[in-house]
Amino acid sequence: MKGEILKAARLIILSIWLMGLGSNAQLNSTFYASTCPNVSSIVSGVIQQALQSDARIGASLLRLHFHDCFVDGCDGSILLDNSGSIQSEKDAAPNTNSTRGFDVVDNIKTALENSCPGVVSCADILAIAAEASVSLAGGPTWNVLLGRRDSTTANQAGANTSIPGPSESLSSITSKFSAVGLSTTDLVALSGAHTFGRAQCRTFSNRLYNFNGTGNPDPTLDTTYLATLQQTCPQNGSGTTVSDLDPTTADTFDNNYYSNLQNNKGLLQSDQELFSTTGASTISIVNSFSSNSSSFFQNFAQSMINMGNISPLTGSSGEIRSDCKKVNGS
Ligand code: HEM
Repeated sequence: MKGEILKAARLIILSIWLMGLGSNAQLNSTFYASTCPNVSSIVSGVIQQALQSDARIGASLLRLHFHDCFVDGCDGSILLDNSGSIQSEKDAAPNTNSTRGFDVVDNIKTALENSCPGVVSCADILAIAAEASVSLAGGPTWNVLLGRRDSTTANQAGANTSIPGPSESLSSITSKFSAVGLSTTDLVALSGAHTFGRAQCRTFSNRLYNFNGTGNPDPTLDTTYLATLQQTCPQNGSGTTVSDLDPTTADTFDNNYYSNLQNNKGLLQSDQELFSTTGASTISIVNSFSSNSSSFFQNFAQSMINMGNISPLTGSSGEIRSDCKKVNGS
């Protein structure tokens, strides 16, 4: 009798534990294996098409996943347009006149709705597109974890506070990563995304002429590189002119970002700080990624999985949007 009660108690405890797992469901790499088996090749095909006319588009798509995940988790919230109840994250300071690639996301969504209607979330599209973009640019490949669902809300204020800015201190940026469960190694690895893509003059021009009110440029900028950047971004010129984030191999995903930092050729202040902040624990990580490309690739892939795991909506939370720009039925 006593044994039976104990058995029953064990069973109850086990099922409560399993239910707990269910509500905190994990993503997995085979989520669409039966419902949309070609999801990866469909996403990759649309991106390859887009790359034909825009070498930068992969970088832009990778950045969308980052800006999605840092605001209330990877839930596709960045894709929602303004509407009655939605204050779009697209209008938040880090995104406005800056994030791009939304039209390509819509093309991916259309292609997927044609093959597997109502199945693949917009949040997962961003995660798959990020991996495809990196691998198409010569970077690592990884098994993308899937099963995210889409939010029915956006958080513009959250986008303004949670996404790090290019003139922030290393300690402040580290705190923002830590706030979403990402480590210093994740910070250094993911910053390696600045191995491709572009940045507008307005995001780094504070370094070129009068850095922190000194009347001089940022002393951690290589002087030859400084001269080039001053030509691209003249004082009182257009803040929207763009410069390659990686001056050596602009559209290739490689580890040159880290040797650039060692050579004082980081474009953003936030990039150069990883190597030039006295005593920082990031310096040795920069050195190791600079000397070992496969270590960078491995760490980047793992850190992308870590970032992709930030607070996803799973199970019956959220929805599968049929149009990434709008909440269903609105
Ligand atoms: C560590 C803190 C970070 C800061 C302060 C930062 C800041 C910036 C800024 C200011 C730009 C230029 C935007 C513009 O001029 O319109 C940019 C571009 C970019 N960022 Fe970051 N970023 C950070 C981390 C990341 C991470 C974690 C990723 C992805 C894993 C990423 C991916 C990119 C890419 C690919 C671009 C180029 C986008 C394009 O060409 O359209 N960044 N970032």
